[in-house]
Amino acid sequence: MAKSAPENRLRIQRIETGSQEYQVIPVDPEDKNAIAAYYGFELKHGFSTLSHGDSLADMVSHRQSQMCRGELAAAIIRVGEEVVATAEILLKSGTKGHRFADNEARTSGVLVQPDKQGLGLGKLMTTEQERIAENAGKTAMVSAIDQANNSSLRLHLGVGFRLDGCDDRKVPPEFHIRKNLERKPSVKKNLADERATGRLNIVTDQIDDSSPDQILVDPLNTALVKQALEQGYKGVFLLTRKDVPDDSEIDRNFVVFVKAENLSEEQSQETQD
Ligand SMILES: CC(C)(COP(=O)(O)OP(=O)(O)OC[C@H]1O[C@@H](n2cnc3c(N)ncnc32)[C@H](O)[C@@H]1OP(=O)(O)O)[C@@H](O)C(=O)NCCC(=O)NCCS
Repeated sequence: MAKSAPENRLRIQRIETGSQEYQVIPVDPEDKNAIAAYYGFELKHGFSTLSHGDSLADMVSHRQSQMCRGELAAAIIRVGEEVVATAEILLKSGTKGHRFADNEARTSGVLVQPDKQGLGLGKLMTTEQERIAENAGKTAMVSAIDQANNSSLRLHLGVGFRLDGCDDRKVPPEFHIRKNLERKPSVKKNLADERATGRLNIVTDQIDDSSPDQILVDPLNTALVKQALEQGYKGVFLLTRKDVPDDSEIDRNFVVFVKAENLSEEQSQETQD
């Protein structure tokens, strides 16, 4: 049995839902079986594909070399022998074709088995990615999310990432997200209150200098998202109907955009007391 790397034994992330406990297991770069289980899970769920002519064994060897060189790290959650969630983090620019700064780590997607989604496993995995990034001396995490991937947008903005870019050359358009690891979110705002008191309104047409400091924008309206970013706003949360069930205007998801100059790095959003 392969040994865990020393830093991986420092903190075990776990949650309990009902009678089931879920524990995040860092993938040991020496453990080929764990690496095969990881990428087998991604392939099974169509989250990655094999390069032309490659087998799973080829893919595992390639990723194992990257892990051993410290370019890439991964974690899994299992129920018995079965993998139910995976997450990867890139620690060296150029890995998997992604470019980022030396002080940054790039999260390369979290994947949770469909019947285990909504239990908090995605959140658990982002915590693990953050732990790995911090252990590697990184001060920020970056990633990209497809415009319509509501669950991922909700998850990432909910754990302190900011939407700070939009690449509409990609099909579908892709949002760039970033989390500063040096300053943790602490001050919370109640968005239901902000809505009820008229301090957080939907914008549908134009965003300019005179727009309020915080606004709601439909993430599927690419042009408006780009206007918000150009005007110096950052996306900080995905507001959904379940957050404000009595609010008839919130008939779909909206990104909460806040003017960056008013956004202390400590500020985050919440929807409950
Ligand atoms: C994105 C993903 C990893 C989230 O995993 P998860 O285990 O369901 O995440 P969590 O349970 O920790 O939390 C997800 C949050 O998104 C919310 N959510 C889930 N589906 C949603 C949807 N369609 N619209 C809006 N919010 C949604 C959940 O309610 C939860 O928010 P809350 O904590 O405020 O209640 C999972 O949906 C997944 O595997 N998707 C497919 C792969 C993928 O797209 N990965 C991300 C690539 S960038």
